[in-house]
Amino acid sequence: KTYQIAVIAGDGIGPEVMDQALQVLDATEQQGGFRIEREEFPWNSEYYLEHGRMMPEDGMETLKSFDAILFGAIGDARVPDEVTIWELIMPIRKQFRQYVNFRPVKSLPGIPSPLAQGEDIDFVIFRENAEGEYSDSGGRLYAGQEGEIAVQNTIMTRAGVERIARAAGRYAEERGLKKITSATKSNAVIHANKLWDEHVRRIMSEEFGGLEFEQYYVDALAAYFVQRPQTFEVVLASNLFGDILSDLGSGLVGGLGLSPSGNINPEKDYPSMFEPVHGSAPDIAGKGIANPVAQIWSAALMLEHLGEREAGGRILEAIEEVLAEGRVRTKDIGGDATTAQMGEAILLAMEKK
Ligand code: NAI
Ligand code: MG
Repeated sequence: KTYQIAVIAGDGIGPEVMDQALQVLDATEQQGGFRIEREEFPWNSEYYLEHGRMMPEDGMETLKSFDAILFGAIGDARVPDEVTIWELIMPIRKQFRQYVNFRPVKSLPGIPSPLAQGEDIDFVIFRENAEGEYSDSGGRLYAGQEGEIAVQNTIMTRAGVERIARAAGRYAEERGLKKITSATKSNAVIHANKLWDEHVRRIMSEEFGGLEFEQYYVDALAAYFVQRPQTFEVVLASNLFGDILSDLGSGLVGGLGLSPSGNINPEKDYPSMFEPVHGSAPDIAGKGIANPVAQIWSAALMLEHLGEREAGGRILEAIEEVLAEGRVRTKDIGGDATTAQMGEAILLAMEKK
C-alpha cells in the first residue's frame, strides 16, 4: 500500500521540526509494510511575499488528491497573522470538511505535570473545527470614532453539532472509553450554546446510550482540568472553547513542544491534516532548539488515521522511551539537546523496535 502525503512545513520552526518528523515517518515504511510518497509545498510567508498569496490559485485542487497533509506551522512578523491563517489553514480545514480537531492530552514519562498528582492524565479533546465562534461573519462600524463597534457572529448549526458529537461518540466506542464530557457556556451564550447543549445531549442519549455523558459550563470545566484532569476521557467542545481547553491541556502535560493535533475529516472524502498545536515560535526559530516531538507525534496521528495504527503506535512508544530515558531533551523540557539530536534519538529508538 502506498500513501500520498502532502507536506507543508511553513514558517519559523515549522521546517526545523518537520525535517525530524519526515525522517521518522520514512523509517516506519519498512516495518509497517507500506510506502509513503510525499511531496513538499513551499507555501509559507516567504511565498506570500513573493506571490501575494499563501498558495497558488489551484492549491486546494492540488491538495485534494493526497491521502493526508502533514503541516508544520505558519506565522511571520512580515505578514499579518489573519492572512497566513485565513488564507492557508482555514481554507484547508473548512473546504476539506475537517470538522474534528483532535487533540490528545496525555502524560508522558518523565515529564512532570505542574499538578504532579501521581495519576496519569490521558484524555482527548474533540474540538469543533468548522463553524462556531471562528467565523468571518460580522463587521465593524464607525472605525476610529468613539462609538466604534464590532459584531462577531457565532454560527452553530444542528448538522454541525450532530456530526462532531457523533465523531466523539464513535471514537469513545471504538477505543473502549466510557465517558464523554461536553463544555459550553449556555447560561450566557444563550442561543448558539443552547443549540449545542440540546443536540449533543440528544445524540448521546439516542445513539450512544452506553456511554456516560456529562455537561459542564466551560469556566467550571477549566477549573476541573486543573483539579482532576485524570478523570476525563473524551472532551467535546466548540471551536473557541476547544482551542482554549486544548492549550490548557497541553500545559498540563508538558507544554506546546509536546502537543500534536489532527484536523480530521471522518468521512475521508477529503484529506485530513495533522499539525503540532504550536505555532512558528519566532522567538526560537533558526536556533535549532525547537522540540520536534509535537510534529513527530502529529505524523504518528496521521498514520493512525490512515489505518496504520501499529506504525503510529510505534512512533509514540519511541517518543515515550526517549523521554523516559531522559538523556536527550530539548530546552523546553529541561535539557540542552538540539532539535536534530532529539529527532535522531527518537529515530534510533524506533529502529530498534
Ligand atoms: P507559538 O506556539 O509559536 O509559541 C509560543 C511559545 O511556545 C513560544 O515561547 C515558543 O518558543 C514556544 N514553543 C512553541 N513551539 C515550541 C517547540 N516545538 N519547542 C519549544 N518551544 C516551543 O505561539 P505564538 O508565539 O503565539 O505565535 C507565533 C506565531 O505562530 C504567530 O504568527 C501565530 O499566528 C502563529 N501560530 C500558528 C499556528 C499554526 O500554524 N497552526 C498555531 C499557533 C500560532
Ligand atoms: Mg490554539
